[in-house]
Amino acid sequence: MNYNQPDKNGKFGKYGGRYVAETLMPAILELEEAYNEAKKDPSFFQDIQYYNKNFIGRPTPLYFAQKLTKKYNGAKIYLKRDELNHTGSHKINNCIGQILLAKRMGKKRIIAETGAGQHGVATATVCALFSMPCTIYMGEKDIKRQAPNVYRIKLLGGEVKSVKTGSKSLKNAINEAMRDWIANANDTYYLLGTVTGPHPYPMMVRDFHSIIGKEAKQQILEIQNKLPDALIGCIGGGSNSIGLFYDFLNDKNVKMYGVEAAGHGLNTTKHSASLAKGQEAVLHGNKTFFLQDEDGQINDAHSVSAGLDYPGIGPEHAYLKSINRVNYVSVSDEQALEAFQILSQCEGMIPALESAHGIYYACQLASNMKQDQSIIVNLSGRGDKDIETVSKILKIK
Ligand SMILES: Cc1ncc(COP(=O)(O)O)c(C=O)c1O
Repeated sequence: MNYNQPDKNGKFGKYGGRYVAETLMPAILELEEAYNEAKKDPSFFQDIQYYNKNFIGRPTPLYFAQKLTKKYNGAKIYLKRDELNHTGSHKINNCIGQILLAKRMGKKRIIAETGAGQHGVATATVCALFSMPCTIYMGEKDIKRQAPNVYRIKLLGGEVKSVKTGSKSLKNAINEAMRDWIANANDTYYLLGTVTGPHPYPMMVRDFHSIIGKEAKQQILEIQNKLPDALIGCIGGGSNSIGLFYDFLNDKNVKMYGVEAAGHGLNTTKHSASLAKGQEAVLHGNKTFFLQDEDGQINDAHSVSAGLDYPGIGPEHAYLKSINRVNYVSVSDEQALEAFQILSQCEGMIPALESAHGIYYACQLASNMKQDQSIIVNLSGRGDKDIETVSKILKIK
């Protein structure tokens, strides 16, 4: 397999593309040109490397979860420790890349959307670092359940705009950010937080996160001198998982699992499993899978984790499913909460609720594999932001 996606029009097979209002087209083309130029400039990558190392704290370790492995008595479970990044999740990888691009483009103001608040915090952080004002759109519902992150964004100097329309979560926050961008494209850069939206965002955000898989590959080869048998990442829009998968896509013996949120169950209306239960549609500038009703209206998504609570998925994942390269599975709220406690007590790491979905699946998969096999699961974030949510559900004696 020689993986080479997307094509020059930003299509991953029939998914992706660039479906935006005429008024936004010049801004999108300007962004694409700037990114293509930056990619040819070694100093752009030197700057990214500098901040990755000295500001974010990369490379993050690849940790052998010995006790977890023992508990499930199967394949070795390795954790890619992206929760150790500055600001507590993978989101900052993409923010450093995009803020450097925004500076190159001479933009003066940053806007972004956020669900769990992790992307909002990472954006406000890089804006403080590079002295840029920023406005973060966040659904009213997410503002309530991710209060610590809202406070952090404000502390970092960011402005949080509450979105009270529709589902009051990530979908509507993206709508509002796009409206702002259309109105202010001249001086404003839209720092999108996952691998969705119009081309070049899905490709660009993937490229900035592909450091996760590059490091993981080198690290696992150093540890065991062979590639892992499986990779696992949870999926909101799909950025941490594609970041881990990308460098392994041509390694045909490495199986990959993207974990969607099954919420209350796939047979209810309360989940976020857009690949398992959605249909194709065009929204937020790209063609991919979205949860919809019979009339094609977008349904509200649900997950106990705000970062997975999105009714769509990045177009590259839709493509990877269509060619059977990645397996897409799902894990419920209850199962994620179980993994949240297991990882905390077994390995001394409190995971983000998003990442707990991947951890749960990794444990199940490991128990059905042999002891000489190995799995890498992306620990995309830490759980500090989720303590309040979890404490309302779990009663700990
Ligand atoms: C810690 C963490 N993991 C995963 C996600 C899901 O996003 P993505 O699928 O783009 O990695 C989020 C989103 O906010 C997050 O905060």
